[in-house]
Amino acid sequence: MGGDHSYNWFLAFVVVVMMISATIDYKAVASKSSGENSEAQALIKSGWWSIDNTSTGNMSDSPCTWHGVTCNKAGSITEIILPYDYKRIGYQLRDFNFSPFPSLVKFDANGKGLVGIVPPQIGALSKLSSLDLSCNKLTGELPSSLANLTNLVYLSLSSNEFYGNIPPALGQLSNLAYLYLGYNHLTGTIPPTLFHLKKLSHLDICAYVHIGGLPSETGNLTSLVYLEGASNQIDGSIPVEIGKLTNLASFYLPHNKIVGSIPPEVGNLKILYALHLEFNHITGIIPSTLFYLTNLIYLDLSWNQISCSLPPEIGEMKYLTALDLSNNQIYGTIPLELRNLTHLDTLNLSSNQLQGEIPRLLGSLSLLVMLDLSNNMLTGNIPSGVDSWFAIKSIICNLSHNNLSGTIPHFVEQLRDVDLSYNTLEGRLSDNLVSKFPSSRFVSNKNLCGNAAYLPPCLESPVVTKKEKHRTKAYIITATFWFACFLIGVVVVLIFHRTKTVKQVEAELIESNHGDVLRIWNYDGNIAYKDIIQSTEDFDIRYCIGTGGYGSVYRAQLPSGKIVALKKLHRLEGENPTYDKSFRNEAHMLSQIRHRNIVKLFGFCLHKRCMFLIYEYMERGSLFCVLRYETEAVELDWTKRVNLIKGIANALSYLHHDCKPPIIHRDVSSNNILLNSKLDATLSDFGTARFLELDSSNHTIMAGTYGYIAPELACTMVATEKSDVYSFGVVVLETLFGKHPVDFISSLSSKSTEHQQTKLIDLLDERLPTYFNHLVARDVVLAVTLALVCLHPKPKSRPTMQYVVQQFLVPKPGLRMPLHTVNVQQLISLAYAISQ
Ligand SMILES: *[C@@H]1O[C@H](CO)[C@@H](O)[C@H](O)[C@H]1NC(C)=O
Ligand SMILES: *[C@@H]1O[C@H](CO)[C@@H](O)[C@H](O)[C@H]1NC(C)=O
Ligand SMILES: *[C@@H]1O[C@H](CO)[C@@H](O)[C@H](O)[C@H]1NC(C)=O
Ligand SMILES: *[C@@H]1O[C@H](CO)[C@@H](O)[C@H](O)[C@H]1NC(C)=O
Repeated sequence: MGGDHSYNWFLAFVVVVMMISATIDYKAVASKSSGENSEAQALIKSGWWSIDNTSTGNMSDSPCTWHGVTCNKAGSITEIILPYDYKRIGYQLRDFNFSPFPSLVKFDANGKGLVGIVPPQIGALSKLSSLDLSCNKLTGELPSSLANLTNLVYLSLSSNEFYGNIPPALGQLSNLAYLYLGYNHLTGTIPPTLFHLKKLSHLDICAYVHIGGLPSETGNLTSLVYLEGASNQIDGSIPVEIGKLTNLASFYLPHNKIVGSIPPEVGNLKILYALHLEFNHITGIIPSTLFYLTNLIYLDLSWNQISCSLPPEIGEMKYLTALDLSNNQIYGTIPLELRNLTHLDTLNLSSNQLQGEIPRLLGSLSLLVMLDLSNNMLTGNIPSGVDSWFAIKSIICNLSHNNLSGTIPHFVEQLRDVDLSYNTLEGRLSDNLVSKFPSSRFVSNKNLCGNAAYLPPCLESPVVTKKEKHRTKAYIITATFWFACFLIGVVVVLIFHRTKTVKQVEAELIESNHGDVLRIWNYDGNIAYKDIIQSTEDFDIRYCIGTGGYGSVYRAQLPSGKIVALKKLHRLEGENPTYDKSFRNEAHMLSQIRHRNIVKLFGFCLHKRCMFLIYEYMERGSLFCVLRYETEAVELDWTKRVNLIKGIANALSYLHHDCKPPIIHRDVSSNNILLNSKLDATLSDFGTARFLELDSSNHTIMAGTYGYIAPELACTMVATEKSDVYSFGVVVLETLFGKHPVDFISSLSSKSTEHQQTKLIDLLDERLPTYFNHLVARDVVLAVTLALVCLHPKPKSRPTMQYVVQQFLVPKPGLRMPLHTVNVQQLISLAYAISQ
């Protein structure tokens, strides 16, 4: 211990000596050169810049041309963003000479591997308004000279190893709006002076060690928008003064030791969108005022000791996307009003004391992804039918540890995952369920039977009771009646059915009086050649909605009222063998495939005199256009964009892996992704698609759209499914950035590393709100990461579309960092890890 002490003294001595020598250096330089020069000297001395990150390739040029350096008109440096340089990880921040920067407004050293203390001279940057030292390994106590930086608006010191108290002097930074101190080892209480910061809008005090409670003075921070204190040892109760923070949008105090009940005053926080109080010791009821916070999109009160019934008012929070009240003592029945929460994607009410039946009328929760009602005392049957939760096939559903009875409805086979263990269910467990889910999902249901080792076999011929005999008789009579009707129907059809119309599934040939050949299938209704000609007035220009590579697209309203799209090859183009070929190609391709994310071809006419294809009409046009118009782009919100990406990934995976032989599209672009009125996406335009036959050469003329073509195609001309994967990567980024990512992609291949510090949030489409629910945020980070792998210059290192689809299906634990801190460099590292 004593040795440690003297060592520390020695270190302190070295620091002082170095500080003095740094000052002497500066004076020496300043006396013989201009201010600009001494700024340049300090930067050169820091070692962070080399020829590689100057834009002229000459270190003798003014530092204003270096990467990450910005100057004012007078040539004095105003902004420094330290370049990323892995060789400089472990750099002592105290070796950076802060003295010669009289005009510096911004210093950003986020995530540069800095170590050591923050030197007190940092207080000399009198103009500084933004200081970001987050995500390094800086240590020591926070210097009180930070208080000299009275122009600071943004101060981020989070994710370092600072210890000691928060300096009370920070209360002098009267312009401070953003203060991030989280993820350090700070101790003590929040100094009362901080509550004088009238402009503070973002406060993050996440910490690992005890930091006291929220005092009533918290109510003075009336500008506060964002209050975060996770993994803290915040204790005490939530002060009633919280109700004064009427600008609060996000209130995030999970994993603390908060006691007492939630004060009814939270009802004043009218613009609150996220309330996280999970993992605390909160008791009492949920105040009814909370349910009237109609802007809430995320409410998590799980792992507390809240004891109340679930009131119908819960239906008021109609924009909620995630509701987690699990692990409390909530009793009563599940209120029907839950069905009003139509935006819910996560609903977790597990481990409470809920009783009664699962209400069936919840099919309106069509976005639900996770439903957990396990560990309650629910009774009755599992509701089935289109208006039940189970109509939502993509949910992960946990109903285990209840008292549910009856048989398992068929819908369950379609769920993504299900847990029905520890109930009193009965009847046969279908072979599909046995093979789709592990035994743990069904154990401890005494009366289940089926073909599995863990189940008793079902009795082959169950004893028929009198009642059932009756039922069987009635059934036979009904069946005979319908069979008779069917026979009569067949006869009638045979007599009257001429050639005019054909229904669904099987293709049939229709010879109209023009002698043209029209093929229709896959369409639930009638399409006649004459209807098409009439509804478009023989392809009048007024019905034209677009012109593609080799034809025009028309909108046709059929007599039934249904609208279809027609792609017509003009006569002149019809004589061009290339066009003719790609047209027939598309008809051929699309007639072989059916997928919900691939545009539906209802039929076609392929004859010299009438060359057209009949498609499903997609009201909103192409993704390219939707992203160009602000109102439509905003309507295509984050959830819809993520769904679009997943849909297109599914479509490509289907083409590459489920079609035999595999099909490569060869022209995946935002122009060829069409959206319907609900903004569901389909992949279209199969004019250049081809079957990938393993033994035949795929050398072709260049196909595809500029900006989406994989780099290898330019030289090898061999199209593989990996070229589709590349184009998919471009489309993903375009969808999330709101514009073509051409600059971003070229920065990826450039030597410069500066772009790697760009925050993901700054790249995302700025027309959409920057708050996300956690599931969407996770999917956005995942999508961008996968896109980066898809854009790998080497086709071999790109993932298959099947892999991409799987990544979306298996929910990954969210990144520990909030989305707004993720930067490109971190995503590239993740992508690199994936492509290994
Ligand atoms: C760098 O620029 C200086 C003047 O600013 C010039 O004298 C020198 O020759 C340049 N060096 C190179 C390698 O271009
Ligand atoms: C900070 O301000 C105090 C008093 O205003 C001054 O004595 C001190 O030198 C300043 N520190 C720095 C590093 O500029
Ligand atoms: C739920 O929505 C229905 C209309 O769909 C409305 O009549 C009812 O008042 C709503 N209930 C709540 C609690 O918001
Ligand atoms: C629901 O909450 C419980 C307890 O908080 C948790 O263990 C479970 O994983 C959650 N369910 C889902 C589907 O996330």
